[in-house]
Amino acid sequence: MQIITIDGPASSGKGTVARLIAKKLGFHYLESGAIYRVVALISIQASLNSLDIDKILALIDKMKLTFVGGRVFVANVDVTESLRAEEVGMMASLIAKNDVIRKRLLDFQRGFATTPGLVTDGRDMGSVVFPNANLKIFLTASSQIRANRRYEQLKEYNKNITLDNVLKGIIARDKQDTERSSAPLTYDSSFVLLDNANMSIEETARHIISLCKF
Ligand code: C5P
Repeated sequence: MQIITIDGPASSGKGTVARLIAKKLGFHYLESGAIYRVVALISIQASLNSLDIDKILALIDKMKLTFVGGRVFVANVDVTESLRAEEVGMMASLIAKNDVIRKRLLDFQRGFATTPGLVTDGRDMGSVVFPNANLKIFLTASSQIRANRRYEQLKEYNKNITLDNVLKGIIARDKQDTERSSAPLTYDSSFVLLDNANMSIEETARHIISLCKF
C-alpha cells in the first residue's frame, strides 16, 4: 500500500492536485481539511466557539461524516458548499490549534489508508498523520499568487469579495497554521518542497507522479 501526502498552505492547489494524482494512479483520496471544516461547521451550527473543547469533542464523537463521489455528507446531508465559506475556514483553523481535537481525529484519518494506495492533502499529513508515507510533498506559492487563485474561485459566487480581503485572510490563516504549537504547518528534509507558482495543476500532478519511486 502506497501513501502520498501533499501538505501546504491555503490555496496552494494541493487539494486539486492531490485529487488528480489519486485519479491518475487509481488511489483513494482524502481531503483532511474537509474534516476540520466539518468540525467547524457543526460547531458553528451548535453555536459553540473554538474554545468549547469538550463540547466540540462530543460533536466529533457523534459526527457521521462520509465522502461520496467528491462530495461531503454529514448524517446524509450534503454540506460540500457550506464548507467553502471563509467563516468556516477560519473557525476550522482556530479549532485545529487544539491538540486534543487533533488527536481525536487521527484514527479516523488513518483509516483512509487502504489498498491500493492513498493520496491525501492537508497541513500535517506528512509530519504527523502519515510520517512514513512513501512520498511527502510540501506544495506552496507566494501568498499573493495564492490570494489571486482564491479570489478567482470566490468572485463567481460572492460579488462583495475583494482581492485585498482574500489576501488578508490568507496571510491570517498562514500565520495561525504555521505558528500554532500543535502540528504546525511545516516540513523537513523528508519532504520534497515544490513551489508551483508557475506550474499548472496538470504539470504539478505530473511532476509529483514522476517523483514516485514505486
Ligand atoms: O485545507 P483547508 O483550508 O480546507 O483547511 C482548513 C483548516 O483546517 C486549515 O486552515 C487548518 O488550520 C486546518 N487543517 C489542519 N490540518 C490538516 C488540514 C487542515 O490543521 N491536515
